[in-house]
Amino acid sequence: MGWVRSKRGSKGIFFIALNDGSTIKNVQIVGEDQNFDEETVKLITTGACLKVVGTLVESPAAGQASEIQAKEIEVLGACDNTYPLQKKGASWEYLRTVAHMRPRTNTFGAVLRIRHNMAMAIHTYFHEHGFYYFHTPLITASDCEGAGNMFQVTTKNLYDLKKDDQGKIDYSDDFFGQQVALTVSGQLEGELGATALGQIYTFGPTFRAENSNTPRHLAEFWMIEPEMAFYDKTDLMDLEEDFIKYCVRWALDNCRDDLEFLNKMVDKTLLERLEGVLKESFVRLPYTEGIEILQEAIKNGKKFEFPCQWGDDLASEHERYLVEEHFKKPVIMTDYPKEIKAFYMKLNEDGKTMQGTDVLFPQIGEIIGGSVREESYDKLMAEINRRGMETEKLEWYLDTRRWGSCPHAGFGLGFERLILFVTGMQNIRDVIPFPRTPKNCEF
Ligand code: 4AD
Ligand code: MG
Repeated sequence: MGWVRSKRGSKGIFFIALNDGSTIKNVQIVGEDQNFDEETVKLITTGACLKVVGTLVESPAAGQASEIQAKEIEVLGACDNTYPLQKKGASWEYLRTVAHMRPRTNTFGAVLRIRHNMAMAIHTYFHEHGFYYFHTPLITASDCEGAGNMFQVTTKNLYDLKKDDQGKIDYSDDFFGQQVALTVSGQLEGELGATALGQIYTFGPTFRAENSNTPRHLAEFWMIEPEMAFYDKTDLMDLEEDFIKYCVRWALDNCRDDLEFLNKMVDKTLLERLEGVLKESFVRLPYTEGIEILQEAIKNGKKFEFPCQWGDDLASEHERYLVEEHFKKPVIMTDYPKEIKAFYMKLNEDGKTMQGTDVLFPQIGEIIGGSVREESYDKLMAEINRRGMETEKLEWYLDTRRWGSCPHAGFGLGFERLILFVTGMQNIRDVIPFPRTPKNCEF
């Protein structure tokens, strides 16, 4: 049983390419017109769903090793010519308008099978390395990254909002009795897990209301966040590198047919790039040295759209220059200025930089954001106060530092950014079945 990808015929014989979604490879069905009633043969059109009974034989023709000589064909679901996936070579933009049907195309089938395999790779890696899968909440009152990009969750009647004397919304009668939102990261809860179970990871949906309409951002994406007690910066970078390489190796070992298809149809350098990453040691580059390299490049005539003085947050053009042009391999950038990073990162002795460890990848830019965490209660509180953050909703988090605090570190891998890299697809909207982006929540 499967769906018709194509049908052709000549001299009383027809050939159907049938696919059931389990692999990129179609099975060829061969039938003779005279053995079937005309009505049935007419209904065998692109997109139709068929049940075929026949004999599997060695194929006499080139192109496939075997084929099925059909004895009976039942049309389970006919498909008329309004089917939106008739034509080959439809644009990615067009396919996004029919995102609910595009999993039936070869490319999206390949991408989605690889996506599944990457999820299995991730669970297997952590399980084999002694990490526990830890479930962090999706509804939360704390903004982990402090960027204020949260989607509010409420059951309040928005047409009739009760406000207090200062005009502030009164949440006491809301479902949770306080203002809450969808999580931007499971990290803070993940730290609770790591300081109890030693090594944990999360793997779940993450929500960010950033209005960035880029090929690298989704409003709803999946993130993997391992958190490890007793890890220092070197341990952390070693894990980031080993983990990503394991995932890429898994894809090469388990998704060969799909990768070869994508290498042929989407990106001719894909396999080479995947193999390349496995061979390279990732560069470990302090932010300050990165800025020096970028400044040197500017002196030599390189033009960037955005500034990159010490203290600036690097734009993806800078990250990609370092990775794709300067080093030509993945870079783990470390020790960022504290002004551009989140409150929880461990401060270096210099008092100016924090122990972040972001992994920058060719084609993608930032694929992992990670850091050593500030384990000292006093230093963490000093940073929280310096930023003028409210501690009221963070007391539970601060308890990790109050009672039995320990050195620890962790990172977040954007699942779709990994899938982008592994599939060679260009737009993050094309590696998740139902993308959510600004002004787009169809299907
Ligand atoms: O760098 P980020 O913001 O780091 C954190 O959230 C930390 N709490 C992680 C941790 O240390 N546990 O996000 C981590 C990664 C990014 O490197 C990127 O790959 C991905 O998540 N990411 C997104 N992916 C798709 N769409 C978005 N809007 C994303 N924002 C971040
Ligand atoms: Mg980041």
